[in-house]
Amino acid sequence: MRIEKDMKLADVIHHDFSLIPVINRFGIHLGFGDVTIEDICINKSVNTEFFLTILNTYHDPQYFPKKHLQSFHTAMLIAYLKKAHQFYTEQKIPYIKNLIFKLTEESVQHKDRYQLALNFFKEYQEEFTRHIDREEELVYPYIYELEKAIESGKVPEELIQRMEAYSIMDYENEHDNVEEKLFDLKNLIIKYLPAPSNELTSYRILLELFDLEKDLREHARIEDIILVPKVEAMEFTIQKMI
Ligand SMILES: [Fe+2]
Ligand SMILES: [Fe+2]
Repeated sequence: MRIEKDMKLADVIHHDFSLIPVINRFGIHLGFGDVTIEDICINKSVNTEFFLTILNTYHDPQYFPKKHLQSFHTAMLIAYLKKAHQFYTEQKIPYIKNLIFKLTEESVQHKDRYQLALNFFKEYQEEFTRHIDREEELVYPYIYELEKAIESGKVPEELIQRMEAYSIMDYENEHDNVEEKLFDLKNLIIKYLPAPSNELTSYRILLELFDLEKDLREHARIEDIILVPKVEAMEFTIQKMI
């Protein structure tokens, strides 16, 4: 199903409730009433095209927003990505960590084994935070610098050096490493950890891990198919200017 602006937002959520955290990132929260997507976007001052592109990217893994690639403002894209980061680091990941902690607390016999999973998740959290920090402290400022150079027509020497030292393609590769670790953790729970007395807890953890994995996969896809081509095009423009 392609999500369109004249659809009722409630119908879209009934169809795919995993979009709830995504709409939250746009300042749209449950209890929004019987409105269409276009109406709520106007009401919340959200760019409708951008909202639809993000929703469709999450909803349909085959969706590739070719014609919109260059049209979105960098600031809007980055604001969205940062909101998503905030959700992962401040809500989702601490929530999962707590669930794994609960597993160790509930256990009498296998505390040390569950502690292992907890340590593994903490390592994942650290690696993930490093990735997010790199994006926010290095990649995004670099993109703003490129945009500034194009708008002003002046390319500072520093930026030329940065362009030579750093390729946006490196950024794409980083995403795979973060995904692998999450897959390993799921495997640890599915294959190797003893089943806890309360199996609902381990099921909950897996549900959350699968959900986080999907969310992050689409997040990385937005970065790879919307942000990266935009940066490549800007780098190309600047190459012609110098
Ligand atoms: Fe990101
Ligand atoms: Fe990323």
